[in-house]
Amino acid sequence: MTAATSGFSERFVLHRDPHPARVATFAEDVRAGLGTRPLSLSPKYFYDDLGSALFEAITRLPEYYLTRVERDLLATYGREIAGSLDRPLELIELGSGSAIKTRILIDAILERQPRLTYHPIDISADAVTESSLALAGAYERLRIVAYAGDYFPLLRDKALKTNGRVLALFLGSNIGNFEPADARELLQLLAAARHPGDGLLIGYDLKKDPSILELAYDDPTGVTAAFNKNLLARINRELGGDFDLGAFRFHARWNEARGAVESFLVSERQQRVRVPVAGLTVDFEAGDAIHTESSYKFTREEIVALSNDCGFAEKKTYTDAAGRYALSLLLVV
Ligand code: SAH
Ligand code: AVI
Repeated sequence: MTAATSGFSERFVLHRDPHPARVATFAEDVRAGLGTRPLSLSPKYFYDDLGSALFEAITRLPEYYLTRVERDLLATYGREIAGSLDRPLELIELGSGSAIKTRILIDAILERQPRLTYHPIDISADAVTESSLALAGAYERLRIVAYAGDYFPLLRDKALKTNGRVLALFLGSNIGNFEPADARELLQLLAAARHPGDGLLIGYDLKKDPSILELAYDDPTGVTAAFNKNLLARINRELGGDFDLGAFRFHARWNEARGAVESFLVSERQQRVRVPVAGLTVDFEAGDAIHTESSYKFTREEIVALSNDCGFAEKKTYTDAAGRYALSLLLVV
């Protein structure tokens, strides 16, 4: 990451990519995704300021149980998890978002050691800045070295500097948004960057009745539809696009063969859309679909097998009584 570093205080440092480079990457990815069929957009672009706020609204929906169940698991087992690793610990978090649940682990770690360094990484500069400022204000014994950017290049470039024993967090079923080959690469990069005995706490949604999953991803309030449509609105705002948001409908369905809920924005009519900054014109027929996101679901065995292949061993897996969601604590071997 080419980092322009802006200091807030001695306890908060933020590394971020320059703005023109971010817009250029967004334009290239939109051109690649909408310039060929099947049409697709990367879910990592959901999270501008409004998108991050809409995601937070999703976490409050009765149908979206994932965040609540994960928070309860952390509240019940957070101390045990923190106590499973040597101290002093440093924390890394991939896709930290609002980092509200992270506070449970920060509390548990600070009960065992006087100070803690926390490295949140998030592609949303707004989310990582706001959450870091809030944390720096709430915890005097916390030092924050934050990164606004995509965690793939950061890990590939080995740009993350840590000291001593590390616990990496990959919460919120974030792993589910990656195609299997990318999820594998991410875990391999993480294992390669860490030392034997370092931990990875991974939160994932368990396979279950498809009707429960489809309701979680296509809520009757329409918040998830707005979260998806904001991606088109963001293309309009940042790349000069002329998407008519009213001419697309949202649709999510369980794909049994892939083990994922797949989300789409479907064109309601024949229409032409222009995105000047991406040098793109797209002609839609009625029914043409843009794939916006896959949310893969797993069994514990699938996660353990994948993590074993990538250089981790399972220390312990925690699940709720209803078997909806799991947290696996993995150790680098
Ligand atoms: N961990 C939080 C937030 C989950 S939402 C929770 O459990 O509630 C997913 C987060 O990952 C968002 O904040 C988004 O901005 C971030 N994100 C998505 N793709 C990313 C990528 N490739 N690199 C860095 N951050 C990413
Ligand atoms: C962040 N990510 C794991 C969420 C998920 O469940 O796939 C994003 C989301 N999409 C729709 N609702 C929530």
